[in-house]
Amino acid sequence: MNVDYWDEVSSRYDDRIFDVLNHDKKSRIKTLIASHFNHRKNAIAADYGCGTGKFLNILLGIFNKVYAYDLSLNNIRLVDEQFLNDKKLHTSTRDFSTGLNAATQMDFILSVNVMIMDDLKTRWSIMQTIVNDLKPSGHALIIVPSLESALYTSSKLIEWNIKEGIDHDRANSIGFDRPNTKQIQTIREGVVDAGGIPTKHYIKEELISLCRYHHVDVLTLEKLEYDWSTEFIHPPQWMQSPYPWDWLLYIKKP
Ligand SMILES: C[S@@+](CC[C@H](N)C(=O)[O-])C[C@H]1O[C@@H](n2cnc3c(N)ncnc32)[C@H](O)[C@@H]1O
Repeated sequence: MNVDYWDEVSSRYDDRIFDVLNHDKKSRIKTLIASHFNHRKNAIAADYGCGTGKFLNILLGIFNKVYAYDLSLNNIRLVDEQFLNDKKLHTSTRDFSTGLNAATQMDFILSVNVMIMDDLKTRWSIMQTIVNDLKPSGHALIIVPSLESALYTSSKLIEWNIKEGIDHDRANSIGFDRPNTKQIQTIREGVVDAGGIPTKHYIKEELISLCRYHHVDVLTLEKLEYDWSTEFIHPPQWMQSPYPWDWLLYIKKP
């Protein structure tokens, strides 16, 4: 998942990248940001790993100054085309894993599905950059894939197979990608296949522990739930709640 990878993804963004905003049916992300910042229009906000800019309309509706950063120049160009005349928006390419901090400190940082690469060092430096770039008392809303949800989704596919009459021995392989050796090794780290790409998934306790390590307070750690159609083409009617989810982590720097 280097710059070439993300530049290439950019040309087929909507096919390749899960649209969190569109699947956030209860508008939880917007509500949470607005509840903390609606009365603080002069606060400075940023989208870290903005992609093609899906969340920027929300941020520009709440804040007077918004920074949008991404590793991919192609993504930043697409954002610039969309928001050409918006003087409140400042865009730039940036690699959060370099250890370099922003010239401006932020009151609020949004980061949706960015700390997902299989390389642990890169993930840790991105988290460190987010924390360093926050002003004291600044907030960050971080969305990451849930490992519990990935395993739960596997269990639902097994259940589905058994309901279809597949015998128990084969129920945990039919419909699954065949794991390779690397995937079996990386499951210990929570790196599982997502659409063919090794992708870091987090368990709840790991996120709490990550926040402790970085000395930030957890204000909210909750499920951002999606429909089953985000996991399976034509899920059966009986497949209802609990639904699959990402983790929504809302933190505050002391
Ligand atoms: C899965 S996409 C999510 C994009 C966007 N947040 C969204 O939800 O549509 C991950 C984004 O993180 C960016 N990214 C990955 N590694 C990065 C890094 N080291 N520094 C800055 N951005 C990075 C990628 O270019 C990509 O746009």
